[in-house]
Amino acid sequence: MRRLAILLPLLGCLSGCGGDSTDSPSTLSAITVALSGSPSAQIWQGQCAACHGAAGEGNRALGAPALTQPSTDYLARQLRHFVSGVRGAHPDDDAGKRMALSVANLSERDIPDLAALIATELPPAQPATAITGDAARGEDYYVNICSACHSGNGQGNDALGAPSLAGLNDWYLKSSYQSYLDGVRGTHPDDFYGAQMARLAPALAKGDDIDDVIAFITTLPPRRAP
Ligand code: HEC
Ligand code: HEC
Repeated sequence: MRRLAILLPLLGCLSGCGGDSTDSPSTLSAITVALSGSPSAQIWQGQCAACHGAAGEGNRALGAPALTQPSTDYLARQLRHFVSGVRGAHPDDDAGKRMALSVANLSERDIPDLAALIATELPPAQPATAITGDAARGEDYYVNICSACHSGNGQGNDALGAPSLAGLNDWYLKSSYQSYLDGVRGTHPDDFYGAQMARLAPALAKGDDIDDVIAFITTLPPRRAP
């Protein structure tokens, strides 16, 4: 099989690139991502890596989250929703709009393989933490409110449509939570799963409650071990 190697030169990229994997000394050499030369690998490299990073590690400066922890099912649903306007079409959803524009030409044929490539072939990212909060206090909220759907270990539950939260960027956990609270995500009439999350979001309306829960979530081991 033809292999497509993407070499990520991380040296010299420490301040300007915004990638979240750059702050651990062990990643300072280079990350090599070997992907099959499949059509989805080419779509990834040509249409996605510029924002999400060659290894899917995310880029905070662009608001593009790490993608390597959510399941294939969840990623495929989000991609379909961006393409069809169920997500990212709200007039105040700036980040969602940037994403939706980037996948406007994606066809249903491409989506399952592309989602599987992200969830299984890209190396699991190890996002740096930026948000501080009281993780012990956050654990109480998490166990009582979030675990019913996102599971006790934060690895999500596909049967309920609830994605893995462990291993996501903490800044993205915060901004996506806020987008449900603000009604820019989860309010489209066809967004069955988004509506469940949007109904639940006001349970944590106070800013530092969210930070505490996020501080706890970042202590949970991700679904795919780095
Ligand atoms: C112009 C930059 C840009 C490009 C190019 C781009 N994205 Fe995104 N993507 C974003 C941003 C910004 C978000 C966050 C949206 C939000 O905050 O709601 C995002 C969100 C996502 C999400 C949702 C993640 C989640 O946890 O719900 C998926 C999945 C995704 N992108 C996949 C892709 C794929 C696959 C491609 C290539 C076909 C791609 N993106 C191209 C900027 C981009
Ligand atoms: C009733 C079930 C339910 C509960 C309880 C719940 N969620 Fe969710 N959550 C969901 C579903 C379903 C989704 C996926 C929605 C979608 O597709 O947009 C989701 C999505 C999310 C996302 C977006 C993830 C991403 O990758 O974009 C975040 C962040 C989140 N939930 C955080 C929380 C937190 C924190 C709690 C506890 C305070 C919580 N959720 C409680 C069902 C739930």
